[in-house]
Amino acid sequence: MDIEQPTNSAIVAAYRARTPGSAGLAEEARRLLPSGIAHDARHLDPYGIYVERALGPHKWDVDGNRYIDYFGGHGALILGHGNAAVNAAVAEAQAEGTQFAANHPREIAWAKAVQRLVPSAERIRFTSSGTEATLMAVRLARAFTGREGLIRFKGHFHGWHDQMTSGYSNHFDGSPTPGVMESVAHSNILLHPWDIEAVAKTLAERRDIAAAILEPTGSSFGQVPIRPEFLVALRELTAKHGVLLIMDEVITGFRVSAGGAQGRFGVRPDLSTFAKILAGGLPGGAVCGRGDIMALLDFEAM
Ligand SMILES: Cc1ncc(COP(=O)(O)O)c(C=O)c1O
Repeated sequence: MDIEQPTNSAIVAAYRARTPGSAGLAEEARRLLPSGIAHDARHLDPYGIYVERALGPHKWDVDGNRYIDYFGGHGALILGHGNAAVNAAVAEAQAEGTQFAANHPREIAWAKAVQRLVPSAERIRFTSSGTEATLMAVRLARAFTGREGLIRFKGHFHGWHDQMTSGYSNHFDGSPTPGVMESVAHSNILLHPWDIEAVAKTLAERRDIAAAILEPTGSSFGQVPIRPEFLVALRELTAKHGVLLIMDEVITGFRVSAGGAQGRFGVRPDLSTFAKILAGGLPGGAVCGRGDIMALLDFEAM
């Protein structure tokens, strides 16, 4: 829907009446940013709100409307907006400097905190986003197994790098989205997230699969849930065939339980990926897991 397009919806009309400031900014943004947005998730009809400030469970738009915030920083702000302890920690760190081009003692404390909560995290590599974390996890899996194939589940989101585009919200036949190489798209095997028989058949028939990756509670923040028994069966099958299991815990990590979905359901993946909750809602992420796999990132053998 266009920003100005006439509407016969009372809801859209009321929304427009209450958000003229956001409408004006959306109009201006369209000239500068593709679709007027900085993240695909903000693509809303007729336009999204422009938020000025947020505190605890609320946020306020430029027109002074107050909202209960169910987005929660894409799920990362488990303590709400502007949590005093998080703000103080960020301010303290920022005052020391922001880019040292050197190691920092806090990265050791950070890694120890992850390891304490996530027992499968034998070693950890921090990244700047969940996309980078899943990209690295899949590359590690290929390097470790010497195979190229990747089992993914339809509707599961793992960031926006080339391997992860088809099969999430479109191209469910596995064909490449525009700009992605055929060979990359076709190294995916897209399966239905409840179909353990299809997983078993695929693993029995093919010897070229490096890993299976999934959102452990299902796609769309678990709104299309998968059962814990599926996780258990997937773990057994992948282990049997020497295929790595990657749990993408960008949404579930430190939330489903302190140890993520793997802690809650007692299923130990080979690799896991995390993102912004790890950085108090700021950009950040990690890939972590088995020491022998993570050792591939070592410059020299340990
Ligand atoms: C399950 C999952 N994996 C990966 C990502 C990508 O993370 P990022 O947006 O930090 O690149 C997301 C983003 O929301 C996600 O929900």
